[in-house]
Amino acid sequence: MTGALLYLSGEARGRVWQRAFGRALPDLAFLTSVDDIADPSDVRYLAAWTVPEDIPERFPNLEVVISIGAGVDQLGLDRLPPELCVVRMVTPGIRSMMVDYVSMGVLVLHRGLPAYLERQRRGAWERDPVPLARRRSVGVMGLGNLGRAVLETLAPFGFRLRGWARNRHRLHNVETFAGDGELAAFLAGTDILICLLPLTPETEGLLSEDVFAALPRGAGLVHAGRGRQLDTDALMDALDAGHLSGAVLDVVHPEPLPGDSPLWSHPKVILTPHVATETDDEEGAEAAIAAIRAHEAGLPVPGQVDRARSY
Ligand code: NDP
Ligand code: OXD
Repeated sequence: MTGALLYLSGEARGRVWQRAFGRALPDLAFLTSVDDIADPSDVRYLAAWTVPEDIPERFPNLEVVISIGAGVDQLGLDRLPPELCVVRMVTPGIRSMMVDYVSMGVLVLHRGLPAYLERQRRGAWERDPVPLARRRSVGVMGLGNLGRAVLETLAPFGFRLRGWARNRHRLHNVETFAGDGELAAFLAGTDILICLLPLTPETEGLLSEDVFAALPRGAGLVHAGRGRQLDTDALMDALDAGHLSGAVLDVVHPEPLPGDSPLWSHPKVILTPHVATETDDEEGAEAAIAAIRAHEAGLPVPGQVDRARSY
């Protein structure tokens, strides 16, 4: 195999990737800095979380861009030539971390933790009725790799499960809804809403005033998709009005969240700094190597993004 992979991400991960690539694809040069590049036409592969704006002009022979994460919006897809193959991480570690995170968020909301944390801070021993899981419905927006894994994991708790995606999905013991036409019906029966959608022009701003108003009173939100899907002001209005009871947010816009954002101290919000998942170094290297091997062999590339859909 000729050419080079340009890796533009963390140093420690880079050392792990470099060793893995050295073993698996020894003929592919592994470059970790734009300054190392003697001949830009050698660069056929790029692995990064975000890519510099002028990448397509700089590297005329670029064939594959590999996202270091599961999402690809941060690469700036509209700047990348449409024929370029874009690959995302679909790894067991990402799946299992997201399952942990969302399960935590669902249980936190199901058991009313935001209110108890607030009462703890003011020393108030006040109890609410304890709800049965089977009287609660949990609805997942996005029935892809992560949304389906979350639903499978939540099943044993006994929640009524629902899911919404662009296309019709048939899942065991999950009531499914498809497309914009069924969104209102999906929301109307969802007590805890989970967002695991990719950021696309269609999903930007989707978590809006209208969506919150369509949820039953007292509903909660777990948001682990992308920050730009959420209208933060609409969320805070819905929380302050008591229409929503709590939100667990892993993603916001912008990131990092500015120090003066009211989200930091909102009593009904639990906030984490985009940590629901992290790509494991070894697994990430294995996934990138598998993608490159498949591409070289002319086989379907695992994790390849459909450029027409942007996910
Ligand atoms: P997939 O591509 O496997 O699944 C995406 C799902 O979203 C599909 O079910 C798809 O529908 C659905 N979808 C896309 N657009 C729409 C739309 N307009 N309306 C309704 N449904 C839609 O992605 P993953 O499950 O792997 O990941 C989902 C997202 O989670 C990532 O793109 C990323 O943004 C986010 N993420 C966040 C992380 C974090 O740390 N917070 C970590 C990892 C991922 P259909 O099946 O019909 O095509
Ligand atoms: C991802 C993320 O997309 O961490 O992998 O957000």
